[in-house]
Amino acid sequence: MWQFEGRPIPLIQTALPGPKARALLDRDQQYMSPSYTRVYPLVCARGSGAVIEDVDGNLFLDFTAGIAVTATGHCHPRVVEAIQDQAAKLIHMSGTDFYYQPQIDLAQRLAELAPGTRPKRVFFTNSGAEALEAGLKLARWHTHRSRAIAFFGAFHGRTYGAMSLSGSKLVHRRGFSPLVPDIHHVAFPRGCQGCMTPGDVCTCVKQIEETVFKRIAPPEEVAAIFVEPIQGEGGYHVPAPGFLPGLRALCDKYGILLVADEVQTGMGRTGKMFAMEHWNVEPDILCIAKGIASGMPLGAIIARGDVMDWPPGSHASTFGGNPVSCRAALATIELLQTEYIANAAARGEQLRAGLCQLRAEFPTISDVRGLGLMTAMDLGKSPTDPAPNPDLRETIVQTAFRRGLLLLGCGESAIRFCPPLCISADQVDTALRLLGDIFRAEFAARA
Ligand SMILES: Cc1ncc(COP(=O)(O)O)c(C=O)c1O
Repeated sequence: MWQFEGRPIPLIQTALPGPKARALLDRDQQYMSPSYTRVYPLVCARGSGAVIEDVDGNLFLDFTAGIAVTATGHCHPRVVEAIQDQAAKLIHMSGTDFYYQPQIDLAQRLAELAPGTRPKRVFFTNSGAEALEAGLKLARWHTHRSRAIAFFGAFHGRTYGAMSLSGSKLVHRRGFSPLVPDIHHVAFPRGCQGCMTPGDVCTCVKQIEETVFKRIAPPEEVAAIFVEPIQGEGGYHVPAPGFLPGLRALCDKYGILLVADEVQTGMGRTGKMFAMEHWNVEPDILCIAKGIASGMPLGAIIARGDVMDWPPGSHASTFGGNPVSCRAALATIELLQTEYIANAAARGEQLRAGLCQLRAEFPTISDVRGLGLMTAMDLGKSPTDPAPNPDLRETIVQTAFRRGLLLLGCGESAIRFCPPLCISADQVDTALRLLGDIFRAEFAARA
């Protein structure tokens, strides 16, 4: 396994981008689609654990995990070993038409791990968006109903069904109409106080029943409610305790399916295998992707066995659940269970405690929130004005990159911290120290 050859981390030894990166960026500019959202010119060469080396030999501490994907860290030796072993045996034979053991092993593992005691079945995809598409199709098929409820601030992906379920940013939708019809968006509880104890009925849930079901969407036509247990791209918002149990009760009352999009929250990121476990809520369909195979392309829906009742040919995927990705996922799950889920919970607490200290020093940080290693801080206009400050967020993210700390934004002006779940206590301290230095320098320059 590649190590850092005793070099300190982070280590920035060229201008950024460096000369080799510059040459690649020029070609990227010429040939790649302009639709991607690269925030800084990082050209990666190698990765190990929570460290990325760029093509010019600079070392970065990675608090993005390739957008919350590399759960066990970059190139964990056990995941690499599983991939290499499987690649030498069978790379592809299409689980749509044939059988192979890694896919069956993984389906059983996921079915047993999913929240709740009722039997489950699994359908494999290549990505998060495809998992949402599968969830939407299955919900319509099983219920014979057409409508769906989703939330403002939600991000479910960029294919037509997933894009139509999303309610996050106009840029995701502008110019792409017509979208999938009969999807109704409602408010997601963000820091609201309406249902702070588990027994309370959440105001956002009440609004679905009292407004949406009375004015625009007869509940007997609603197939499913799609929800991220913690909104991801929308800003890492953790809902109040009554929200998800309230949604479950509402779904049960009207025969509606509850679909949990755990593409980002799943596979240990929040300190439990699935975020729904924090609220003891069993969804009818669970969508997963990002962390499942530590970076190999794989997604899945895990559904109640009696719900996954579609007939042969109604849904399938040539590549979904290919043997190499399935073996990577099996290795990932083992590592998550033995080490990294517990680490995510502990390192998340350490990180939030450090960010809260930073907030005490710089009250322009208007909020710190999250569960496990799905943590964010909001940046406001001033210590007394918490209105979103995307410019300050941009400055902090860019400066962090130049100092060797990889961060990403989310929501209107939040910075998200979603490192690999193998991140060490020392690496969390290093990130906090760097951030402290960056804030001190930034606010000294503004004074
Ligand atoms: C919650 C959630 N759902 C779905 C998706 C879409 O996943 P993919 O990019 O793999 O299609 C994402 C991606 O960021 C996500 O965060």
